[in-house]
Parts: sequence; structure tokens; C-alpha cells
Amino acid sequence: MITGGSGMIGTALTALLLREGFEVAHISRTEDLTGAVKVYGWDSITPGSSAFAKEKAREALGDTRAVIHLAGAGIADSRWTEARKRVIIDSRVKTAEAVRSACEATGIWPEAFISASGINYYGSVTEEKIFEESDPPAASFIGRCCVLWEEAATGFAPHARTVMLRTGVVLSPEGGALPKIAAPVKFGVGAPLGSGRQWMPYIHTDDLCRMYLHAVRNDDVSGPYNAVNGDHLTNKDLTRAIADVLRKPLWLPNVPGFILKAALGELSEVLLEGSRASAEKMRGTGFDFRFPEIQSALKDIYG
Ligand SMILES: NC(=O)c1ccc[n+]([C@@H]2O[C@H](COP(=O)([O-])OP(=O)(O)OC[C@H]3O[C@@H](n4cnc5c(N)ncnc54)[C@H](OP(=O)(O)O)[C@@H]3O)[C@@H](O)[C@H]2O)c1
Repeated sequence: MITGGSGMIGTALTALLLREGFEVAHISRTEDLTGAVKVYGWDSITPGSSAFAKEKAREALGDTRAVIHLAGAGIADSRWTEARKRVIIDSRVKTAEAVRSACEATGIWPEAFISASGINYYGSVTEEKIFEESDPPAASFIGRCCVLWEEAATGFAPHARTVMLRTGVVLSPEGGALPKIAAPVKFGVGAPLGSGRQWMPYIHTDDLCRMYLHAVRNDDVSGPYNAVNGDHLTNKDLTRAIADVLRKPLWLPNVPGFILKAALGELSEVLLEGSRASAEKMRGTGFDFRFPEIQSALKDIYG
């Protein structure tokens, strides 16, 4: 069962799980029970007091082995006004709570609740330190958001194994940050952002989907993990690597940080600063990255 399964990661993960022989269902803001992948609306999973809704929740949860929680309003889609911050948090926390209350009402618990989280849990700090899972969260908005998101996931214990994947920038041709960074490069006007020295922990979308599968299958995967490949790359390195693979020149000076700050406000912090993060805890569970460095990842995406 995947919440937010219609999104960029959910679509790729659904295809992988189906290929691996799993039955997959989604929970979404738009219900559609007619397809091979049943899409339950959030109203179906929120049992409320009516017996009908409870039956629907029972049908939706069925013999669900794992819930993968991907639902969430886009973090970098618009300026972080107070109202937008509320939507960003609620769309992650209240949705997890809705699934939990459906489990409580029906008495059906999955074996595992596996939630997305963000690598910005540690904040965006451009320094040499390599953040590990035992490091404390940042006090920034995005750090607090990740803490609340992960607390909502741990609400499933002791009934279910809980896993939180603190995800870096997901490299995919289908959306997210990469096409946005690559578009100006393609037109010959790409440039690093701000100092260009901010770290950009990242992961190829195939590796991330394989990591979710690994977390479903392995009972000893439990708790928080950095979902990054451990290749420490700066914004400038990434922009250059994209220009190289697209065979485009990179000649413009960096985009000044103050322009991004003026345009995006507080949100600009996740573009202008960034931390290094370790992949060792996940590697220690026996997970191998297919794309451990940027050239192979970009070559796979851009052919
Ligand atoms: N992509 C990345 O680089 C990246 C990096 C770090 C963490 N993550 C996290 O991984 C998760 C999945 O990422 P993604 O790139 O696949 O995101 P996505 O393409 O934006 O998909 C997220 C899904 O969440 C649902 N959603 C959106 N707004 C919502 C709202 N206000 N209330 C309830 N549900 C809402 C939507 O599903 P329905 O329309 O079907 O309801 C949407 O398809 C997100 O939580 C994201 O923050 C992603």
C-alpha cells in the first residue's frame, strides 16, 4: 500500500513492486477502484464513526504487508508562507495519522510502515562534517518538519516495524530537481547556484526504489536511514557533470545567492546550503547501490 503512489517516486516504485510480483494499492486524494492498482481515496481509509467507512478501510488495508508513506505536498513548489508550511507538514503527518487510525479501528496492522523523510533532517549546513543517522535534527523549519514526519511514522510501533528513509535529491528523468537543473544547461545558460560549494546528497531513482523494496523484504531494516548514495558532490560538481554528459558548455558566473533569496525567501536555504550525509548505515544492511557515483547515474538517465 503506497500513500502518494501517484507521484514521481510512487510511480517508479509501483512499477518495480509489480515486476517483483507484489500486489500494489495506493491511497490518494483521487479515488479510482477500477484499475489493476486500486487507488483508495483518503476518505476510504479514514474510518470515522460510520460502519461503511470502517468496512472500506478494512478492504483497503486487507492483507497489507507494508505501507509505504510517500504522500506530501511539494517542499520546493512554492514560497514557505506560514500557510504553505502548514500544508507541507499536515500532508505528511495527518496522512500518516489517518492510516494509523484506520489500522486502530480495523485492528489490521501492516508488518512494516516505511516512510519517506528528508536528508534536510540535519539542516542545510555547508561544512565538512558527514551527517549520520544518530546526529540530532536541525531547528530549522525543514528539520522540524522531518522530526514530525518521522514521529508520525514511529506512531506505528509497536505494531509494525518502522523505517524512515531520509532522502536526498532524487535523480530521475521524470521530474524533481534534475530536469530543473538540466533545463538551463541544455540551453547553454546553466550555472551553479550561490557559492556552488553546497553539498547535494543525491540518489538515483532506481536505487531509491530498490531501497524501499529492500526495506519491505528485510526485517532487520528498522529505524532511520540516510537514503543517499554517499557520493559527496557539490552543486557546482553536479551542474558540471550534467553539462559534461549533455556536452554543453558551462560559462556563466554562478547565480548570485541574493537573487534566489529575494525570489524564494526561506525556501532558498535548501538550494544555497547543503550537508554531506553518510550511506554507511544502509550499506551495512547489505544494500548495494547500482549508481554509486554521478557519471553512471547521469549516463543512465540521459543515455
Ligand atoms: N523527489 C525528491 O527528490 C525527494 C527528496 C526527498 C524526499 N522526498 C519525499 O518523498 C516523497 C515522494 O516524493 P515524490 O518526488 O514522489 O513527490 P511527488 O511526485 O510530489 O508526489 C507526492 C504525492 O503526494 C500526494 N500529495 C501531494 N500533495 C498532497 C497533499 N496536500 N495532501 C496529501 N497528499 C498529497 C500526491 O498524491 P495524490 O495526488 O495521489 O494524492 C502526490 O502524487 C515526498 O514525501 C517527498 O517529500 C522526495
